[in-house]
Amino acid sequence: MSLIDEISKIKSIFKSDLDLLKENKLNQDEVKYKYLGRKGLVSKLYSKLSSIDNKEKPKAGKIINELKLDISNKLNTLFSENNVSQNHATKLDHSLPGLRLNNGSIHPLTLIINEIKDIFSKIGFSNVYGSEIDTDYYNFEALNIPKHHPARDMQDTFYIEKDILLRTHTSSSQVHFMENNNPPIRVLSPGRVYRNEDISVRSYCLFHQIEGLYVDKNVTFSDLKGTLEYFAKEFFGPKIKIRFRPSYFPFTEPSAEMDVYWGLNSESDYRITKGTGWLEILGCGMVNPKVFKSVNYDVKKWNGYAFGLGIERIAMLKYGIDDIRLLYEGDINFLGQFK
Ligand code: PHE
Repeated sequence: MSLIDEISKIKSIFKSDLDLLKENKLNQDEVKYKYLGRKGLVSKLYSKLSSIDNKEKPKAGKIINELKLDISNKLNTLFSENNVSQNHATKLDHSLPGLRLNNGSIHPLTLIINEIKDIFSKIGFSNVYGSEIDTDYYNFEALNIPKHHPARDMQDTFYIEKDILLRTHTSSSQVHFMENNNPPIRVLSPGRVYRNEDISVRSYCLFHQIEGLYVDKNVTFSDLKGTLEYFAKEFFGPKIKIRFRPSYFPFTEPSAEMDVYWGLNSESDYRITKGTGWLEILGCGMVNPKVFKSVNYDVKKWNGYAFGLGIERIAMLKYGIDDIRLLYEGDINFLGQFK
């Protein structure tokens, strides 16, 4: 067979191979190899050039070059078309279900803190923040809790160094605020506090409080009661029952604790209120003049009240959470319920 005949034969097989390729009846790589591979049909043509007449060689070489270019162009065009349609098929499958993206939710403790901040902001309280690491002076000394005072035993403290500790209550922020501001004062100070307590369903080594401080002229204990009653009604509803019990805190005098009556409607109510239906949610009292003295306020001119709310207890009561540890574990299934 002459070279020319062979070339036209290859052209016609390629034409039918190309048709089969278009119908996906042949494999792309195999076809490419069959024609353009090192031992492919086109390479064989080149090796036959040596056996033809010298005068014919340039012309024949040119024809083979054109054939090679034609085959490779046609294959490349077809392959790139195939790839585009294959990519479309994998990227856009309209029958697949959509991706469900989960929205986050606000932590129940943050929900409670925000709600309480809103209620107090309506009666003129603004928010300030103290630091969780503080000195013995701000956490105890300036609040009339000197060294060896029995009240220190009420709050088992984590010490970082001698005189540097994790605050055991937000009352430390009262002292910082009063050192830097003059009366009249109406502030809330929410935040984390730490106590070295045994971990159980009811207690944890950290928890959250909101401190309230009010300093002005002629402030009375009934102002304090009225404010807390307003808060309880706004937060728990107008029918909520509250009671004050006398208590003791070195930094307030007189002092009290406030309980709310939640009732005994569910098993978790029994557990959280220890079967009484009542739950203590805060400590409060009239600021002890000794505290005012430590921040150089004129005790003849100014007086005031303070209170410290326990956030976890309120959250557990409100949402029926009977294990405090759920609040710190970050379990998405638990947290997702507070949307
Ligand atoms: N700091 C007290 C506690 O942690 C609560 C409190 C705050 C009491 C302010 C009176 C006034 O128990």
